Amino acid sequence: MLYLLINSAEAAWLPVAATDLAKEVDQLIYFLLEISVLASILVIGGFVYFSIRFRRKSEADKPPAITHHYLLEFLWSFIPFVIFMFVFGWGWLVYDKMRDHPKNALEIHVYGQMWNWDFVYKNGRKSSRVLTVPVDKPVKLIMSSRDVIHSFFIPSFRIKQDVLPGSYTALSFTARKKGKFPVFCAEFCGAGHSSMLATVHVMGLREWEEWLVKDPYKGMSISQIGESVFQKSCTACHTATQEKRIGPGLAGLFGAKREFEKGGSLVVDENYIRESILNPSARVVKGYGNMMTPFAGLLQEEEMTGLIEYIKSLKIEQKDK
Ligand code: CUA
Repeated sequence: MLYLLINSAEAAWLPVAATDLAKEVDQLIYFLLEISVLASILVIGGFVYFSIRFRRKSEADKPPAITHHYLLEFLWSFIPFVIFMFVFGWGWLVYDKMRDHPKNALEIHVYGQMWNWDFVYKNGRKSSRVLTVPVDKPVKLIMSSRDVIHSFFIPSFRIKQDVLPGSYTALSFTARKKGKFPVFCAEFCGAGHSSMLATVHVMGLREWEEWLVKDPYKGMSISQIGESVFQKSCTACHTATQEKRIGPGLAGLFGAKREFEKGGSLVVDENYIRESILNPSARVVKGYGNMMTPFAGLLQEEEMTGLIEYIKSLKIEQKDK
């Protein structure tokens, strides 16, 4: 009954269950909730009832000296034991399914870094911040981190797995609903942790196959390519205005003079922007920490050129001054 009551208020409660496993996890949670509510009513209700029923009425009012009752003592231990073992067994079965990696699964590589998620498909197609998968197909994510520990969490699929530097972990699922579902980083990984977000986009198999072979930058100017890379990979730390985030705002950067933490200064040109993307620790701007993950090896040449051109195009707005 509680299950039905809560299910009707789904929007204000658990996120939509988009896999079969998610439904099983929910059933277990609702069972735990029901039995907890029942136990609370019995314990607190009994407590209130007995307080009134057997309250002390006079000075001479003393309870009889009861030492023990074997059957009662056995039952109040054995019944909870049976309930706990039942919950344990049920939890084990669900957990076992959660950790199952189907042999025929579609494999996708996932890379976490401060503070972004990248996805690499078998045919070489890459995407940032959007994981695109076909519906009703088992998918296995092979995950690794480029810096610190992150955690890949898809609430609507009810699965979560730590992502480690220097080693691979895996996460499998079969999405049963088309649509877009949020992904969170669930391990505190620094200042940009809360903006380390992504989306799982579940689509039909045909549509997905078309997406897989599509050139993401077709028909785009070099600066538009740069803007698209910027939106996906840079906005956790940088703005396209002068507003500071974890790193400096980038408007008006090109041609400006920058002083560095280690001393020295220069006028920003293409070479400095390129160096700052590939090897950010080489020259850290005064007033900022050495926070950025190097992008060496992560960008195609057109993406790098695009980023430089896009950053060049960012002018200081009047209200920024
Ligand atoms: Cu990555 Cu938190």
